[in-house]
Amino acid sequence: MKVTVAGTGYVGLVTGVCLAHIGHEVTCLDVVEEKIEMLKNGKSPIYEPDLEDLMLKNKDRLNFTTNYKKAYKDADVIFIGVGTPERIDGTANLDYVNEVARQISESIDKDTVVVIKSTVPIGTNDRIEEYLNGNIKNGIKVRVASNPEFLAEGTAVKDTLYASRIVIGTEDKIAEKVLKELYLPLTKKPYNVPLLSMDRRSAEMVKYASNDFLALKISYINEIANFCESVGANIKNVTLGMGYDPRIGNKFLNSGIGYGGSCFPKDTKALHWLSKSLDCELKTVKACIEVNKDQKLRLFHKLKNSLYLKDLEVAILGVTFKPNTDDLRDAPSIDNVELLLEYGANVTVYDPIGLDNFKKRFKDRVNYASSINEAIKDKEAVMIMTEWKEIKEYDLNNYVKYMNKANIFDGRNCYDLDDFKNIDAYYVSIGRKDVGSLK
Ligand code: UGA
Repeated sequence: MKVTVAGTGYVGLVTGVCLAHIGHEVTCLDVVEEKIEMLKNGKSPIYEPDLEDLMLKNKDRLNFTTNYKKAYKDADVIFIGVGTPERIDGTANLDYVNEVARQISESIDKDTVVVIKSTVPIGTNDRIEEYLNGNIKNGIKVRVASNPEFLAEGTAVKDTLYASRIVIGTEDKIAEKVLKELYLPLTKKPYNVPLLSMDRRSAEMVKYASNDFLALKISYINEIANFCESVGANIKNVTLGMGYDPRIGNKFLNSGIGYGGSCFPKDTKALHWLSKSLDCELKTVKACIEVNKDQKLRLFHKLKNSLYLKDLEVAILGVTFKPNTDDLRDAPSIDNVELLLEYGANVTVYDPIGLDNFKKRFKDRVNYASSINEAIKDKEAVMIMTEWKEIKEYDLNNYVKYMNKANIFDGRNCYDLDDFKNIDAYYVSIGRKDVGSLK
């Protein structure tokens, strides 16, 4: 099939490349020239494992362009995968989705199925369909279907090809048939992805309900972790014991300094706002948002309560919102570093992938290191913000060897408490007892 995907961010680009991989002719469209130039040269503008390999493998079925008229003109299916960022009041900003809809209405000259993959408030698919059919040439019909995305950054290709499920939301039999045909290869071996058809509004809701449930799980376990500190329990043991119950499961039970990224923060706020506006406030989601806001600064407060921050030499290990991505959106490191600077600390940061993006924001307000050893050298405290493999596997003896004072504040519980038995460091983590004494 001829497919056009609007947006070359995580959702759009990965969708386009994976659809090419299963045999479709795909055009990826973006308004940013530089991105398209990079893609034409086989380079991905986002850091995502396996993506460039897959682009190379399927280069004959992939086109990249900024020309929307050509890209939409005779597409069988158009995917909308542009961003729906958060507005200051927490609502979803649909400007990009609306602009794509306007461009589609200007460009198509045959019946088309438009698929909204971007995360959009319930009812948006209805509105976009109404807009398109009211604004295109007479005689052409657009069918809009919801097809929410469940990929996570860092595992996006695997999450798309071997998806947990494909959800198609449409009441239109033709749109359903087209999408079933499009996704047919993924429903077969070796992928075997379950495909669920449902009404459009429910499909839109599946996305929010799933993301908000996962965010709630994290906020819940973070609160339990904080409580463990008060009662002298160890959150790692507690989650180990909980995770064996298949009804609970052992995933998304890692406590730390809260969730970040481009999805959970915005999707919890958007759904909460929508529920409030409909006079049916989701109080659990509201609590989840509040807990996460406080949790992000929990490690900072532990540090501040232990050490005088003015002129303190602090190293930050990990700045991205999670490992295996260079994404800094809503990363806990941002607020923590801002606060450290406000209190007069001298900050040195290290991250295996995220430093370029961090530099764009913090410029020369912090120092940059090219290794963990360099970052922690002569420091009086270290704060771990992202659980990169390299940080988790770091030799703990080096903290003592290189730091001026080995005060380790771990916001991602990278190490076991027992690991510090023979290490003369002060180790503070989340939901567990502190080990050693302040240096
Ligand atoms: C999330 C969802 O996991 C995807 O299913 C969804 O498709 C995506 O949002 C989206 O809406 O596009 P993502 O934001 O890439 O994916 O990252 P996650 O792996 O879910 O992590 C989100 C945040 O939760 C990270 O900051 C991570 O550190 C935190 N987290 C995750 C925890 O604090 N504890 C955990 O146990 C798991």
